[in-house]
Amino acid sequence: MSTKSLVFLGLISTAFGLATSTSHSNLPSCRALPGDAAWPKSHEWAKLNKTINGNLIATIPEASVCHESSFGTFDSSPVPNSKLHGMWHFPAICPNGVPSLTHASISAPGDVLSQYFQNYTCVPFTNVSQNCELGNFPNYVVNVTGVNDVRGAIAFAKKYNIRIVIKNTGHDYLGKSTGRGSLSLWTHNLKSTEYIPSYSSPYYKGPAAKLGAGIEGWEAYGLANSTGHRMVGVPVLPSVSSYGTSADNVLEWEVVTVDGQHLIATPNQNSDLYWALSGGGGGTFAVVLSMTARLHTDSIVGGTLLSFNDSIVGNAAYWEAVGVFHALLPDFLDGGNSFTYSVGKNSLSAYGTMPGANLTEVNRLLKPFLADLAHRNITPYNTPQVSPNYYTHFYTYLGPAPYGYDAFYPFTNSRIIPRSLVANSTTNAVVTDLFRNITLVEAFSPFYCDSFTVATQSHPDNSLHPAWRDGMLLCAPAGSWDWNATPEEMTARDEYAAKTLQPMMDKATPGGMVYLNEANHLYADWKESFYGNQVRETAECQEQVRPTAVIVCEDGSGK
Ligand SMILES: *[C@@H]1O[C@H](CO)[C@@H](O)[C@H](O)[C@H]1NC(C)=O
Ligand SMILES: *[C@@H]1O[C@H](CO)[C@@H](O)[C@H](O)[C@H]1NC(C)=O
Ligand SMILES: *[C@@H]1O[C@H](CO)[C@@H](O)[C@H](O)[C@H]1NC(C)=O
Ligand SMILES: *[C@@H]1O[C@H](CO)[C@@H](O)[C@H](O)[C@H]1NC(C)=O
Ligand SMILES: *[C@@H]1O[C@H](CO)[C@@H](O)[C@H](O)[C@H]1NC(C)=O
Ligand SMILES: *[C@@H]1O[C@H](CO)[C@@H](O)[C@H](O)[C@H]1NC(C)=O
Ligand SMILES: *[C@@H]1O[C@H](CO)[C@@H](O)[C@H](O)[C@H]1NC(C)=O
Ligand SMILES: *[C@@H]1O[C@H](CO)[C@@H](O)[C@H](O)[C@H]1NC(C)=O
Ligand SMILES: *[C@@H]1O[C@H](CO)[C@@H](O)[C@H](O)[C@H]1NC(C)=O
Repeated sequence: MSTKSLVFLGLISTAFGLATSTSHSNLPSCRALPGDAAWPKSHEWAKLNKTINGNLIATIPEASVCHESSFGTFDSSPVPNSKLHGMWHFPAICPNGVPSLTHASISAPGDVLSQYFQNYTCVPFTNVSQNCELGNFPNYVVNVTGVNDVRGAIAFAKKYNIRIVIKNTGHDYLGKSTGRGSLSLWTHNLKSTEYIPSYSSPYYKGPAAKLGAGIEGWEAYGLANSTGHRMVGVPVLPSVSSYGTSADNVLEWEVVTVDGQHLIATPNQNSDLYWALSGGGGGTFAVVLSMTARLHTDSIVGGTLLSFNDSIVGNAAYWEAVGVFHALLPDFLDGGNSFTYSVGKNSLSAYGTMPGANLTEVNRLLKPFLADLAHRNITPYNTPQVSPNYYTHFYTYLGPAPYGYDAFYPFTNSRIIPRSLVANSTTNAVVTDLFRNITLVEAFSPFYCDSFTVATQSHPDNSLHPAWRDGMLLCAPAGSWDWNATPEEMTARDEYAAKTLQPMMDKATPGGMVYLNEANHLYADWKESFYGNQVRETAECQEQVRPTAVIVCEDGSGK
């Protein structure tokens, strides 16, 4: 086996915790937890803090202000409590009226979005008298400012056999961004930006942007807009059907690897890492500090809010109209347009994105949809209009600026639905039936979908699951966490999502996949569905993105 493939396997082994060496003879072992003899003493943590310039934070859960606990941050006045109530709900409005990102997880060092992994150990909604504990949150967080912090933290974690996790915004339903007894690398504050007017590589010549890992979607769109550009967001932003996926648009990754190397990965340099990071998911190959991606010239964007319902015509006619809406999508998408929409049991509500379209063009593009609805005597709500740039279009439908809309579905599961299924009336009827079934489950309705065509434009080889390229819809049922229900009821809801809804979606949509970032942690078919069977053929070896084993310790730690 070549050296190259050994390095790659070494990186993959980080999926199960940091391996102490890249050799096969050292299997990953269970990690030290607080209370173990191996757990570092305070003076050892203090020493780490020194080597990383004081960037070490001892985790204090955000909701500790709502409970008496050893954190000593309890605040009996009602203000912080109600503020947290505001922030933990969607839509989130802080008491001062400022729209906030929905969950404290983005700006808090240790908190995460996933309520399942949060596990009621410190939430605002439980009784004040309930203790606030770290639970599955990391004990310490490194507020990463650069290479040195990552190197220092990794060396320390190796020395003391501590689990490392990486958290950016904490928007991860599989709990990858948190871990009991872990040291967390928090990359949220890596906010550097650089506009590169003429990037040049064998693959791409043109404008690009180098963005620190902490740059969020809304910031990236604003930066792109400021130089007259637009940029592909995550994972396939409406409007960008003609630009390929986000992964296809990446030119460079700047990373620190487990062995402390600071590398740039491009299609030609450290190309195995470039390949794996571009679409592979998992957060296990290296710590990303920044990404350089293509920018695209901006122009007008046509849009509309289009909705229709079953009043007057009845429910059966409504579902027939939903089926035709799907059947009409491929032609619409092929022009580089898209709809993002939600389907409820009585109504469908969509917003359309039509890059480059003036009002005449918008009306022409919508005509097939409107003609079908008219034919059924359904009167839709339709508001065609044109925005001067993508940024304005985005906030027209997903505002308010600057943060925009942030979905908050702690029971997310998802499905990429192949385009071929809606193009065939037999299988399209099954898809419609699936939609109806999902919307009838109140706790998981509506069904949210993004529609897309992944352009066949040239891009470097990457590990993106091939089902994206044959896909047309990314849909996710909106499962919400109910704070008035008991933890047992929420456990049951979680299992229902994974064991009833997900298999129903899988069965009705053969050839599809599950989007790793919107998946349920109990999902059984994760290897095939998240990673596919992506194998990178090189002159020397074959490299596979899919992990092949999971090691779980008795206490559930040390995965
Ligand atoms: C790390 O050092 C900084 C600066 O001295 C200090 O503010 C911070 O509290 C320290 N972190 C921990 C966990 O002690
Ligand atoms: C959540 O807490 C319960 C009760 O302490 C425990 O049994 C369960 O394993 C925890 N779940 C997770 C994901 O940590
Ligand atoms: C909170 O817990 C205390 C002590 O167990 C109990 O007396 C009180 O009724 C509880 N409050 C609520 C709102 O459940
Ligand atoms: C993290 O570091 C940034 C500077 O990079 C600083 O602005 C911020 O206040 C720090 N956050 C915390 C919670 O210490
Ligand atoms: C977006 O770009 C346009 C055109 O350059 C500019 O007029 C507008 O102010 C920008 N909007 C924002 C929010 O930066
Ligand atoms: C609208 O766009 C179409 C197609 O690009 C073009 O032919 C037409 O001239 C435009 N109309 C106006 C009023 O600009
Ligand atoms: C159903 O659609 C009609 C026509 O657009 C609209 O007037 C009505 O308010 C809608 N009903 C509901 C419940 O949304
Ligand atoms: C449509 O799908 C059905 C069921 O998979 C299949 O039997 C049929 O051949 C397909 N029709 C076309 C025209 O592809
Ligand atoms: C929808 O639900 C019905 C009743 O449970 C079931 O018979 C049918 O197979 C489901 N259809 C799909 C596509 O999931």
